[in-house]
Amino acid sequence: MALDQTSVDGVQPSTPSSDAIISIQGITKRFGNHTVLQDITFDVPRGKTSAVLGPSGTGKSVLLKTVIGLLRPEAGQVFIDGDPIVGVREKEVLRIRRKFGVLFQDGALFGSMNLFDNISFPLVEHTNKTDKEIRDIVMAKSELVGLGAHLHKLPGEVSGGMRKRAGLARALVLEPQILFFDEPDSGLDPVRVAYLDQLINTVHEETAATFFIISHNIESVKRTAHYLGLLFQSRLVGFGSKEEMTNSGGPVIEQFLAGRPEGPISMDEMADAEVVDHGLSIDTVGDGGLGPPSMSNQGVSDAAGALPAVAGLGQDPGAWQTGS
Ligand SMILES: Nc1ncnc2c1ncn2[C@@H]1O[C@H](COP(=O)(O)OP(=O)(O)OP(=O)(O)O)[C@@H](O)[C@H]1O
Ligand SMILES: [Mg+2]
Repeated sequence: MALDQTSVDGVQPSTPSSDAIISIQGITKRFGNHTVLQDITFDVPRGKTSAVLGPSGTGKSVLLKTVIGLLRPEAGQVFIDGDPIVGVREKEVLRIRRKFGVLFQDGALFGSMNLFDNISFPLVEHTNKTDKEIRDIVMAKSELVGLGAHLHKLPGEVSGGMRKRAGLARALVLEPQILFFDEPDSGLDPVRVAYLDQLINTVHEETAATFFIISHNIESVKRTAHYLGLLFQSRLVGFGSKEEMTNSGGPVIEQFLAGRPEGPISMDEMADAEVVDHGLSIDTVGDGGLGPPSMSNQGVSDAAGALPAVAGLGQDPGAWQTGS
């Protein structure tokens, strides 16, 4: 088990760390005196789909960027398949990044390149494969995501759902052990979301990779995820199997999973955040053990602490320079 887990709603992580492919240990991330993440600790089980949920503005994207080494936390460590990623040399970060693919929110395709060139980009950049080998891989991954007939089109000529699928194909070409998804459903209608969820499940079965999804769409992740985590007020409220989380009975988890307006999560995420920033009580979520969060701004870093985006992950570097 990882861990000295702070759990507002009382769901402890249930994954033995020997099964963990990603181990997140004591991550604290601040921007100025705004503590976005406070002592986040959990293990992501190997070969499963895990999703981290949370209201808007709770730090889900910041968590993802920290885990993949694009943001440097003030405290804590992240192990990817046993290798630490925080505070290591850039060369080592690049080596670790070869283990994972990222599906960015809008697919983050290069607008001037057709889908084939977008999908083949990591292979061209990072391997010595022949044109024929590249073509075979691109065709196989494009078939998997149902895009085979559209590879000559530019991203601007296809729908949002197709751009997501192209982003997914591109994230798959290097056959990563881990795939990260930031809000895979954003911008899609409910039917397309359901299709994409099916596709995520199919690809998961096909690849046996570990999927780590950031989302606020509970209905969607109930279809895809085996494990759920919930962020609220800078803290990890809980992380556990879908069943454990659904049956936890904790007020924050219960409100979020049910999508109810009544409960500790308010309409105003800034107000939620300020409760933590000013060290006010968060007793409303039933926690007996949480002390007020640290008000220290020692070691503060801001956007300038963001590490450069890396070519070959396929992202639009600009997409990662600011908090989304
Ligand atoms: N580079 C940055 N500089 C300063 N503050 C930032 C930066 N990136 C994120 N933040 C702040 O961190 C908080 C969490 O942002 P984040 O984008 O992680 O939220 P989120 O949970 O992903 O929200 P959403 O569901 O809307 O995508 C926000 O208050 C945001 O303003
Ligand atoms: Mg986000």
